[in-house]
Amino acid sequence: MKKKLIAGNWKMNASLAANESLVRALQAGLAANPARCDVAVCVSAPYLAQLQGLLAPGGMALGAQDVSAFEAGAYTGEVSASMLKEFGVRYCLVGHSERRLYHGESDALVASKAQRALAAGITPIVCIGETLAEREAGRTEEVVKRQLAAVIAANGHCVSEIVVAYEPVWAIGTGKTASPEQAQQVHAVLRAQLQAASAHAERIQILYGGSMNAANAEQLLAQADIDGGLIGGAALKSADFLTIIAAAQ
Ligand code: PGA
Repeated sequence: MKKKLIAGNWKMNASLAANESLVRALQAGLAANPARCDVAVCVSAPYLAQLQGLLAPGGMALGAQDVSAFEAGAYTGEVSASMLKEFGVRYCLVGHSERRLYHGESDALVASKAQRALAAGITPIVCIGETLAEREAGRTEEVVKRQLAAVIAANGHCVSEIVVAYEPVWAIGTGKTASPEQAQQVHAVLRAQLQAASAHAERIQILYGGSMNAANAEQLLAQADIDGGLIGGAALKSADFLTIIAAAQ
């Protein structure tokens, strides 16, 4: 059975002092109760060097929250995949709904970002998910399949190297979680789409994200096609994040 992945998305919540105490608390917890899954923390770019210093080899992996779709050059403010790689970045979120919403990121741009990450040897965690209006209009499958199709088309057989995160937009930061059945239903659709695109689709981890917490993680992670979680709010509290990690066998 493939390992699950629990990834914390700290979003724009960090400081040198807060990061250090959170990482130390997580490391102490994992030393006492070692993880049986892969664990990553995705931090804002200015803190990558700090985290690279704090994280030990073989322990939690380092993740970034975004990457440029360009390789290098006159792109002020952008951070390239090769820059991330220099700081030991193993995973990079692409297409988080907050980037799609506040920065107008299109399916095509998200697909190029995934491509850049893969080319640099970084695993993109491709985020997809429907809004409340789309779900209520019965368009959930159509939307997530369209978002994933763009990434499959741009990446060909390399798609087996990505991680997918299904994050219904209406569940992010709202305390409203998709029920395990609702999430599993969408994950099964995504798995089938990946299987049609790659002979190695079985090994692709499909994470659920959206108000996953210490209380609901176990049930969500027990679903057949839920291979981990992308955790926002609950990843900032060491005890909660450790409980979620322990729930991922
Ligand atoms: P949440 O965020 O767990 O706070 O809902 C998840 C995410 O946005 O990745």
